[in-house]
Amino acid sequence: MATRSEPVDGAFYKDADAFFAQNSSTGLTFDDVSLATLFSEVLPRETNLETSLAESLRLQIPVISSDMDTVTESRMAIAMALSGGLGLIHYNMPERQQLSEVSRVKNHVHGLIQEPIKVAPEQLIGSVMEFIEAKNFSFSTFPVVDEQNRLLGLLPGHVLKQRYAAKKVSEAMTPRSTLHTIRQSALSSDPIVCADRFFNDHIGIHKLLVVDEEDRLCGLFTLSDVERITQESRAQLKPARDSKFRLICGAAVSATRGANGELDKERIAAHVGALVERGVDVVAVSTAHGHTKGVGDTVRLIRELFPELPIIAGNVTSGAGVEFLAECGANAIKVGQGPGSICTTRIVAGVGIPQLTALYVASKAAAQRGVKIIADGGITKSGDIVKALTLSDAVICGGLLAGCPEAPGQIMEINGKLYKQYRGMGSLAAMKAGSAARYGHSVKDTTRKAAAEGVEALKEVSASLDTVLTQLVGGVQSGMGYLGAANLPQLREKARYIRVSPAGQRESAPHDVIEVKTGGGETLR
Ligand code: XMP
Repeated sequence: MATRSEPVDGAFYKDADAFFAQNSSTGLTFDDVSLATLFSEVLPRETNLETSLAESLRLQIPVISSDMDTVTESRMAIAMALSGGLGLIHYNMPERQQLSEVSRVKNHVHGLIQEPIKVAPEQLIGSVMEFIEAKNFSFSTFPVVDEQNRLLGLLPGHVLKQRYAAKKVSEAMTPRSTLHTIRQSALSSDPIVCADRFFNDHIGIHKLLVVDEEDRLCGLFTLSDVERITQESRAQLKPARDSKFRLICGAAVSATRGANGELDKERIAAHVGALVERGVDVVAVSTAHGHTKGVGDTVRLIRELFPELPIIAGNVTSGAGVEFLAECGANAIKVGQGPGSICTTRIVAGVGIPQLTALYVASKAAAQRGVKIIADGGITKSGDIVKALTLSDAVICGGLLAGCPEAPGQIMEINGKLYKQYRGMGSLAAMKAGSAARYGHSVKDTTRKAAAEGVEALKEVSASLDTVLTQLVGGVQSGMGYLGAANLPQLREKARYIRVSPAGQRESAPHDVIEVKTGGGETLR
């Protein structure tokens, strides 16, 4: 809707080209700018956050969990895909283990407990009770199987009593003949619908066991899980799936070098080939400096061998870097050098570009080359995501997700507060564990020569990923509502920027009050 005030607005609130040209000599990041509101007919909840990073790689929400060893393994990747995003499984682990992490995501049937805890028929009830206590299990019903994993019965929770402690499991279990089971082959493409139907038709039954043709146990559905999931399926965040209805999953690969310092092409080819066999949807060639011969050759090699495989590569902060990786065959390019919450690259190496300027410069080259860009690092709140998405196709988050229970690592208690470890992949500890190549070092260097470019830190334990993402996505949708943007292309087109003074930044956060409650978690403000 054109108004007479538009020329005035336009003189102050500029589109990306005008704004960044005007500020070309200053590196700007998220808090340096704010977005102007525009006439809107768009309700936040009606906005569409879908994005595509390659022809065959679509996400329901434009959020990716970082390929860091304190952020993304299979549990995080499953949770990310279930919420519509993508998890990139890190490579600080033996290749074999990374492959099984990918398999776990690709084989994950939501709601089906694929490896239920089982007991043996000759075990004593007393030992099962001790086992539950030692492991702190919150459930008490166990399938009973023989040595070949064939189903013999189900041990119900109500027989786990001290008075039966000396009895054998086989004496107390519900026998196989009266158990409800379903053949694995009978599960449709939507197993939850199948299980939901079963529980509807069998009043009072709370467990459904899945067996194969030989009656070996393959999994277990519980009524409570299925009910939770059917409620979730009405929720806003829909899972991101591949064409075979499996959750999507990405994996990081490194530009591995052999003892002679040359790129180890055979090893890279074998690694990516094995990931593809497991069904990986995208590989990320993750390094601190992506505008290099090594990264370029790695991307070229993967593109040649796997023409259809989506490739993410990076990191860069220049148009030339984007062009280079696009020419090598990358579909999506990670932008960010030094903005990460655990990064010290700018301090140690004196290089890197504040993130919003880097994204603008990269976005110009990306548009020319027809590739996507991903904003990687420095995101601390949903407003940063909105700003990043005005110039990019998705964001990568590390610190924002590292406190979730789905991130790898133990919870530790310090002075009554709960924390999880979060460390830079360029920290000495992470480089020793395998990520040295990402920073251009060899593992041998990590004892003396390599300068760390990241710190080891802690994050306060946060809510589950699902809750954190719901808050973040809600914030992004609010931002889109303010700009009248119904989808991400419209957000990019409509964004109008203004620089914010230090006083303006102070004004942006709560001020002159004593805060008693944050709006949904400290990091999400
Ligand atoms: P956030 O801000 O989300 O950033 O915690 C995560 C991103 O930071 C990058 N990264 C590093 N950068 N030294 C760096 O300079 C490091 O040790 C390091 N570790 C991770 C990476 O791009 C990640 O996604």
